[in-house]
Amino acid sequence: MKAVVIYESLWGNTAAIAQAIAAGLGGDVQVLSTAEASHEVIAEATLIVAGAPVHSMSLPTDQSRELARGGDMGPGGALPDLSHPKMRTWLKELQKSHGSSAAFDTRVNAWYGRGSASKILNGLKRAGYIPISKPQGFFVSGHPIKPTTDGVLCDGEIERAQLWGIELARMMA
Ligand SMILES: Cc1cc2nc3c(=O)[nH]c(=O)nc-3n(C[C@H](O)[C@H](O)[C@H](O)COP(=O)(O)O)c2cc1C
Repeated sequence: MKAVVIYESLWGNTAAIAQAIAAGLGGDVQVLSTAEASHEVIAEATLIVAGAPVHSMSLPTDQSRELARGGDMGPGGALPDLSHPKMRTWLKELQKSHGSSAAFDTRVNAWYGRGSASKILNGLKRAGYIPISKPQGFFVSGHPIKPTTDGVLCDGEIERAQLWGIELARMMA
């Protein structure tokens, strides 16, 4: 198996989950931002795992990233990393190929915590990658009712991501 884990991440939570999934996958695996995951780099991959944060119950948009740039939205008011393209754009530009796929997002454990991983999996499917797992959500802290944007990963989520990586590797074996 040659695996690539690709992420969009403004404040590092989704990137940390991507690293943990890769640790679980083991073997020949690369972790890349959407800026690094060019067609040439991912061409040989037999498994693509892609993830992004949930923004407004969907994948991040230009508008949601612009809001984030405004400041005060990330953990401790940290500035977002907007140096890499949106997962939406990466998926749109993804060339037809074949292989296996899985998708994840980071979200608040609340009514508004959904809508990103399923869209990523559909995008991978459209490009020819066959899903081997249900979309997975990993939790950041946040208010259960009032939408919040400054979450950090909840306890145990890194370990859960690693276990999911191990499960994906077993499925690929
Ligand atoms: C503009 C904006 C909108 C957001 N909307 C949602 C949302 O609808 N549901 C949710 O669960 N989290 C929402 N969040 C919180 C993000 O999911 C959280 O910031 C993200 O998981 C952090 O991941 P990152 O550090 O990789 O960017 C939003 C965050 C921002 C900045």
